[in-house]
Amino acid sequence: MKVDVEYLEFMWPMRHFLITCGDIADRPNIITLSFCMPVSKRPPLLACAIGRGAYSYKLITGTREFVVNVAPSELRKETYYCGFYTGYDVDKFKETGLTPKPARAVKVPIIDECVAHMECKVRQEIEAGDKTLIVGEVVEAYADEAVVKGERKVEFARSSFPRKKYGTRFGVT
Ligand SMILES: Cc1cc2nc3c(=O)[nH]c(=O)nc-3n(C[C@H](O)[C@H](O)[C@H](O)COP(=O)(O)O)c2cc1C
Repeated sequence: MKVDVEYLEFMWPMRHFLITCGDIADRPNIITLSFCMPVSKRPPLLACAIGRGAYSYKLITGTREFVVNVAPSELRKETYYCGFYTGYDVDKFKETGLTPKPARAVKVPIIDECVAHMECKVRQEIEAGDKTLIVGEVVEAYADEAVVKGERKVEFARSSFPRKKYGTRFGVT
């Protein structure tokens, strides 16, 4: 027998990425995203689905640059903070203590405590329901050497289906 489910339920567990945006010299911001995926190898493109009400949406569509930072599970507290608070109200770098460092090819900072970084330039925006799919070309990608060489084992930030928070099928928000 098959039973109805919330469509998202069996797409979890999902990884959580910390996306940085805004100019390093002008109060940059961090947003936690799970809806982030690779879409093309040549050219290297990835897509992030971002709610249009997010401060990060405003910054990314303004500067047309962002960085996908890969968070290890130790950054759980910071990952949730950046997913629950908005840059309209708080300076997330200041509040979390995460360290902004200059990126290689974009003005957006990377998060030093993350283990890998994909610097992106926005190539396409596609409205998709309550989100906009931001397609970015990866112009630089690099990671901690110890992680690349397998000398440091990393568990990536991720979680299971947040049953209480989501539930579009049943009208729960
Ligand atoms: C684990 C987790 C995953 C999230 N994934 C997404 C996502 O994929 N897309 C999105 O628009 N918001 C997502 N959010 C919500 C945003 O991170 C949240 O709205 C944030 O406060 C927006 O920050 P900003 O206004 O500073 O940009 C997620 C939150 C959490 C905690």
